[in-house]
Amino acid sequence: MKILLIGNGGREHALAWKIKQSPLCDELHCTPSSAGIESLATAHNVGAEDIDGILGLITQIKPDFVVVGPEAPLVAGLADRIDELDIPCFGPNEKAAQLEGSKAFMKDLCAAYDIPTAIYKTFTEVEGAYEFLDGFGQDRSETGVVIKADGLAAGKGVIIPNTMDEARAAVSDMLSGNKFGQAGSRVIIEEFLPGEELSFFALTDGASVVPLTTAQDHKRAFDGDKGPNTGGMGAYSPAHMMTPELEAKIMDTIITPTVNAMKDKGCPFQGVLYAGIILVAGEPKLLEYNIRFGDPECQPLMMRFTGDLVKVLYACATGTLADAKDEMKWIDDVALCVVMAANGYPESYAKNTVINGLDQAGASENTVVFHAGTKRDDNGNVVNTGGRTLGVTATGSSFAEAQDNAYSVISNIDWPDGFCRKDIGWRAIAAQNKKNAA
Ligand code: AMP
Ligand code: GLY
Repeated sequence: MKILLIGNGGREHALAWKIKQSPLCDELHCTPSSAGIESLATAHNVGAEDIDGILGLITQIKPDFVVVGPEAPLVAGLADRIDELDIPCFGPNEKAAQLEGSKAFMKDLCAAYDIPTAIYKTFTEVEGAYEFLDGFGQDRSETGVVIKADGLAAGKGVIIPNTMDEARAAVSDMLSGNKFGQAGSRVIIEEFLPGEELSFFALTDGASVVPLTTAQDHKRAFDGDKGPNTGGMGAYSPAHMMTPELEAKIMDTIITPTVNAMKDKGCPFQGVLYAGIILVAGEPKLLEYNIRFGDPECQPLMMRFTGDLVKVLYACATGTLADAKDEMKWIDDVALCVVMAANGYPESYAKNTVINGLDQAGASENTVVFHAGTKRDDNGNVVNTGGRTLGVTATGSSFAEAQDNAYSVISNIDWPDGFCRKDIGWRAIAAQNKKNAA
């Protein structure tokens, strides 16, 4: 098969790495690209959100199968356009992509089909929203509210206010269009749920659904979960609290009902469902859906997956997932990814700074350095093109071992302009230590 992969983040490097291992893959193309992806695929430079440009590229290279990594082109209808060309495409069409593209759509679906999630109300006018907020107390411990922009907001559309003034400011910033533009023209106010979060991944062809595995992310920039929110500074798989019972409960109460509900509404979902789950007193509730693999969660996922990825993604795209269930195979070891980001991220940071030592760092069987935002400069040096730049990913028989393996690779990477958290995996290691002590 000739395969075209859309996207150039760490997630897509990990997908490209796994796709290349499939005997079904004869030729891999990727657009846009990174210094890491370039070593695996024929690189093109059409942007992931340039729908017409991608269709032009498809007409030119005539792939047998297209895999879409990021959410934005899916929400903009890329899968529908590829479908018109009669080429199988992994990823939901525009209607089904609303599960991530509109939080109000996702919440209304949960309400209509009894899928456990935070209690919520949707507003398009400031007055109504303020009135609703007036029903709560003054600070977060009393109010327990979360304010969300309806549309895609690059991971920044969720505000957990500390005071009611902050809550009102968030509502008016969003509804006035000052923040997030059109994506903020509708807001959701929902109850704050306390609990530990995990990411749950499942594949579906619209009718059949299979669980993949789980992960946990580290959203804050600095050690000890301090500092500003980011796209994710590291992740590991599986989530440390997973049990077969919890997996079955999440499938039975959240994932399978969602797949059935989407079918029932006339917009069957095909692709990967990435559910943000929070455990409230042990009971799983849905925080959000993403319609793509997580980044950096995809990196440890791909390190653990031993099935034929092309086979399963193609089965999703062609409605034959029930025949590919045997491919859901995983190593017993865990995997952990540490993100290296440019100094200053998630605020402003320098681009085109040189990263040395990658050749020595990449050379081990149980570690892979995935590139999230890199290119080669005119002198052949690898330089950063974005904030999150590398995803150093390692396996191990325990979280502590995987962590050691990842950080020992990082010690060989010479990048004075970059930083990473030193405590990725701390929750899982603490839980493991507690278990060992008991
Ligand atoms: P979302 O994009 O909806 O997952 O929100 C991003 C993050 O905000 C989540 O990963 C949670 O940490 C937090 N969050 C969102 N909704 C809630 C909620 N109802 N209660 C507590 N935390 C939340
Ligand atoms: N790491 C969070 C995300 O991919 O949305």
